[in-house]
This record gives sequence, structure tokens and C-alpha cells, in this order.
Amino acid sequence: MQSLEGKVALVTGASSGIGAAVAVALANAGAHVAAGARRTDRLAELAPRVAAGAAGEILPVKLDVADEQSVRDAVATTVEHFGRLDVVVSNAGVMLVGPVQGADTADWTRMVNTNLLGSMYVAHAALPYLLESKGTLVQTSSTAGRSASAGSGAYAATKFGVNAFAEALRQEVTTQGVRVVLIEPGMVDTELASHVTDPTMLAMAEQLYASVRTLRPEDIANAVLYAVTQPGHVAVNELLVRPTDQVA
Ligand SMILES: NC(=O)c1ccc[n+]([C@@H]2O[C@H](COP(=O)([O-])OP(=O)(O)OC[C@H]3O[C@@H](n4cnc5c(N)ncnc54)[C@H](OP(=O)(O)O)[C@@H]3O)[C@@H](O)[C@H]2O)c1
Repeated sequence: MQSLEGKVALVTGASSGIGAAVAVALANAGAHVAAGARRTDRLAELAPRVAAGAAGEILPVKLDVADEQSVRDAVATTVEHFGRLDVVVSNAGVMLVGPVQGADTADWTRMVNTNLLGSMYVAHAALPYLLESKGTLVQTSSTAGRSASAGSGAYAATKFGVNAFAEALRQEVTTQGVRVVLIEPGMVDTELASHVTDPTMLAMAEQLYASVRTLRPEDIANAVLYAVTQPGHVAVNELLVRPTDQVA
């Protein structure tokens, strides 16, 4: 296992759910973590969650992944503050599911700009530093990046896009020592479904999440930790983690 002590990480979408758990887990494992999101008040709640005596720390960084300049600034702030960049967890995302017919296309724009373009901006801005450190890019995708279903068309399209981009990038950089890791969670108990704007889909999503023993954000943080602490010659490229009760 590779130690994270002295390593520097940037986590996007760190103000709640999976990203918050990942930021805390990385800091507990000794990493210096820049935690990025738009809600800085929520980012300020992360540092007290890091175990007393842990070697790592958390630096809140205001970040809107849909704004390329904001992404560049967050990467620059991370490197200026901590001196390097070893691990990027590109995790920010929104899930505004609903059927194609009658959809509010503003939801589609927001998902493409955040989930797909946002993660591409993050990879692009961080890559020079990851090449220098022979670091690791972890990309949060979804089971929806593997199979689409009625009502999830636009969300699944962004996650299929994320998977395609990650695989292409992996082929470009793996022989230069940069590892690209896709994490594909099933249902995780977070705020994600609460942002659904279609009332019928919101009720369906709430019912679906209530029908299984969902994963906790810490379960996904454990998967991220597993991937980023492998020895340098081991690339865990894809991790699909579902709740045991989740069928599709
Ligand atoms: N929960 C699940 O069941 C599940 C399953 C599969 C995949 N995922 C994926 O896991 C990732 C994290 O989601 P979650 O479940 O942890 O949901 P969450 O609790 O709603 O967290 C989403 C995070 O993304 C951030 N975010 C959204 N738009 C952003 C933007 N424009 N710029 C920067 N940050 C932004 C939010 O921060 P701010 O609002 O403060 O900016 C928040 O920190 C997403 O990519 C999601 O698609 C989740």
C-alpha cells in the first residue's frame, strides 16, 4: 500500500455526500486536501471531521466546475498552497432526472456543464501537475454510466461521456505513470436526488432510495482510498460499487 502522507489532493464536489467523505478520508490518511465546491459554508464544516492527530488537513476552495476559469483558479490555489498535486477526485455532479418528453432543457444544460464539461475542465487543468507527480485522477461516474434507463437519458448521457473521456485519457497518459480511475457508485445516501426538479421523478427517486439499504458516502470513500493507495505499478481503472440490495 502506498502512503498518502505528504501527498496533495484536490476533491471537487466536496461540500456534501461522496466528495465530503472522500476529502475527510484522504485527510485522515495523511493527505493535504483542497476541498472544492460552491457552498463554502459547507466546506468549512469538513476540517472538524478530520481525526485529531491525523497528518492530513483540509483547505476549503471555492469552485464552480462549470466555469473553466474557476477550475483553473482552484487547481492553481491548490498547487500554490501545497506545492504539488498528486490525487484529483473529480466528483462534482448533479442528477436532474426526468423523461425526455416535456423535460426542462435547462436541467440538461446544467448536467452537461457540471458532470461532463466540468470534469473535462478539471482533468485538463490538473493534468500537467499529475504528469509531474505521476499522480492519479479519480473520476466519479455512476451505474448510469454503464446502462441507461427510462427517465435517466440526459444524466446517463453525461456519465457515459465521462466514462468515454476517462478511457481515452487513460490510454493517453498511463505509460507516463498517471493512473485514471473510474468509480461507479450505485445508490448512495446523499443530497443528490433531492435536487430533482420533476415532482414525479423526485417522488420516484425518493421511493427507490428508501427501498434499499443504500451505500453510505464513506463506502465510496473506502473505494477511492483503495484505488489511490495501490503501489505505482497497479492501476485500478474501474470500480463498480452497488448496494447489495440494488438489482439494476
Ligand atoms: N448518490 C448517488 O446515489 C450517486 C450514485 C452514482 C453516482 N453519483 C455521483 O457522485 C457524485 C457526488 O454526488 P453525491 O451523491 O455526493 O451528491 P451531493 O451530496 O448532491 O453532492 C454533489 C456535490 O457536487 C457539487 N457540485 C454540484 N455542482 C457543482 C458545480 N457547478 N461546481 C462545483 N461543485 C458542484 C456540490 O457542491 P455545491 O452545490 O456546494 O457546489 C456537492 O458538493 C456526483 O457526480 C454523482 O453523479 C452519486
